[in-house]
Parts: sequence; C-alpha cells; structure tokens
Amino acid sequence: MKPRSKILIIAGSDSSGGAGIQADIKTVTSLGGYAMTAVTAITSQNTTGVKSVVPINPKEIAKQIFYTCKDIKPDVIKIGMLHSEDVINSVLKSLKKIKFDKIVLDPVMVAKGGAKLINKNAIRILKYKLIKKAYLITPNIPEAEVLTNTKIKNYSDMLYSINILSKLGAKNILLKGGHLNSRHSYDILLMNNKKEIFKNKMIKTKNTHGTGCTLSSAIATFLSCGKPLKKSCELGIKYVNQAIKSNPVYGKGNGPINHLNSFNLNKKFL
Ligand SMILES: Nc1ncnc2c1ncn2[C@@H]1O[C@H](COP(=O)(O)OP(=O)(O)OP(=O)(O)O)[C@@H](O)[C@H]1O
Ligand SMILES: [Mg+2]
Repeated sequence: MKPRSKILIIAGSDSSGGAGIQADIKTVTSLGGYAMTAVTAITSQNTTGVKSVVPINPKEIAKQIFYTCKDIKPDVIKIGMLHSEDVINSVLKSLKKIKFDKIVLDPVMVAKGGAKLINKNAIRILKYKLIKKAYLITPNIPEAEVLTNTKIKNYSDMLYSINILSKLGAKNILLKGGHLNSRHSYDILLMNNKKEIFKNKMIKTKNTHGTGCTLSSAIATFLSCGKPLKKSCELGIKYVNQAIKSNPVYGKGNGPINHLNSFNLNKKFL
C-alpha cells in the first residue's frame, strides 16, 4: 500500500512513545498517511511522569519546517506543544513563508495531572495569534478554561465555553470532554455556527496517555485524504476510543493506548 497523503507534525518528543511526536507518527502511519516532523522539544519521560524537557532552538524548528515542506508539500500540518513565545513566533513565521493554512492545532498547555506546560506569554500569543491561523483547534477542558477564563464542570459549561472560543477567531473547534467527571465523554465540534456532539461511554482505565495527541493526528490524517471535517472528527474519535479499549497495559503509571487498532478501523470505515 502506498501512503494516501502527507502530514507534517510540529510537536515534542515523548521518549516513552505514548504521546507527542511518537504518538503522532504511529497514528498517521497506521491510518495510511506519510508522516514528516519538526521536533520542538525532547522530553525524557515514562508512564509515571516527566523527568526533563530540552527545548530545541526556535531557528532549528523553523529550518525543519521550511526545508521539509520545500521538498515534500504536506496536505495538512498538525501542531502539538509549542512551549514558548519564541517557538510560537518562529512557527508562525515559517507557516507564513510556506503559505500554509490547513492546520490542525492541538493547543497543548496543561498536562494530564493539571500542571501548566507553557508560560503566560506563550499562552497570550497562542490565544491572540496562533488560534486564528488554524483550520481546527482541539483544546481539552483545562485548556479551554485557560483560553476563555471560565470554569467547566459539566456539559452545559462546555457549550458556553465553546462559544467564547469561537469569538477568539477560531474557525472550527473540537472541545474534548475526556476530563469531565461523568459517565459519558462528550466531544463538541463547532463548525459554521453549528454544534455536533460526539458521545461515548467513559472507559474505566488509567491508560489514556496520549489520547489528545492521537486524536488531533488522526483527524489531521482523515482531513488530509479529503474527508470532510465532521466525518474526520467522528472517525478520529472512534479510532481513539478503540485504541483506549485495546490498550496494551504497559508501564506502572498512565500507560499508552493502542495505535495499531486502526487495522480494524481501516476495514470498516475507509
Ligand atoms: N476514559 C475515556 N473513555 C473514553 N474516551 C476518552 C477517555 N479519556 C479520553 N477520551 C477521549 O479521548 C479523546 C481525547 O480527549 P482528552 O480530553 O483526553 O484529551 P487531552 O486531555 O488533550 O489528552 P492528553 O492528556 O493526551 O493531552 C476525546 O475524544 C475524549 O472523549
Ligand atoms: Mg492534550
């Protein structure tokens, strides 16, 4: 089989392989796409926590984006964690230079445990500049709370917050509901002033490391081979759901999900 489409991933490395650029490459590859990368930071981590983060020089990040795209043009770009103002500015400049706007932005700011991953200045520029450049943003609940200055405790708070997000200039928004303490997970897509709700039973497991990275990369892959936005979100959410259900139970902490589950999905949906 030849790859169906090409995706450039701009994100950080997770040495444990469950999240970050490793999860992105596995997702894109198992869904039939060709993955290219611009690494923004290198983390040493395992399923129990992060040991260290080494940032890559913003100029080096820009070079990876520019030289990669100059030769092989991506169909979609997926952006994950950009940890500083300088990195965001450098990515913005590169995107302008290559004139690219089919972007799926996962505005990573808060770790699963609640720790803020990026500083105030970086949040400001992400909120007022980067969000507007994206075709789709995929915040989780803590990130939506930071971006909208609201508290999200339930489904109706999610509906309120997504309206504020659209006023910030986001074209399309998928607000992920994995952090709600509820029997169901609700992911809400706001597209052309219309809301679509994806509802799933919450799976009882601690092994959900990398669900967010995986979801945004899966959506980017479906979009890149021409599927419409709503269908791409629906398929991406299904892929993550099956990946959680069939997780391999690795590690002593919050283990990874099963990126290889897509072989069933391929037969059923593509
Ligand atoms: N326990 C669960 N059962 C079912 N679906 C889940 C569960 N946890 C997360 N999801 C789904 O996984 C996807 C990612 O959502 P989530 O809110 O976990 O993103 P995230 O917080 O950005 O993830 P990450 O911690 O990897 O950054 C969503 O579609 C969400 O509904
Ligand atoms: Mg996330």
